[in-house]
Amino acid sequence: MKKIMTIMVGATFSITSVVNAAEVFVLSADQNNHIRVLAASCAACHGTNGNGVDKAKLLAGIENTDFLKKILAFKSGEREATVMHRHAKGLNTQEIEGLAFYFSAQTPRQPSALPSQVLNKNHAN
Ligand code: HEC
Repeated sequence: MKKIMTIMVGATFSITSVVNAAEVFVLSADQNNHIRVLAASCAACHGTNGNGVDKAKLLAGIENTDFLKKILAFKSGEREATVMHRHAKGLNTQEIEGLAFYFSAQTPRQPSALPSQVLNKNHAN
């Protein structure tokens, strides 16, 4: 924890403040709904409640600080990405904290992949 706290992101924003905020995070009902809607937008690629079929995309149960570090690295461009830099840049600090809190509180579940579809030549069953 101490190691992470020394990382500075920009002039006015540091991991320290985010970590402290996340530890005592309390959401109003409106903020909570907003965070849930944002989290649902992640489901297309990261699964329902962060339970992606791909282990690399598992967000459920992620450590608060790990989530913050990763999203901030996408946002700053420090970590290269195919899509996540775009998602991260669209989130403000409060939303990132809220999502860190949300996903860290989810229970990781065994992901289940759907069986692939098999079509008959004439599309009959
Ligand atoms: C279109 C698919 C897509 C959506 C939607 C998406 N992600 Fe991602 N996510 C990815 C991909 C792909 C990666 C791997 C990095 C990359 O190439 O962008 C990733 C990586 C991540 C990682 C790092 C995982 C790790 O352990 O290294 C986090 C954290 C993350 N996404 C959070 C989110 C959050 C929060 C949202 C919703 C606001 C979201 N993602 C929406 C595709 C997506």
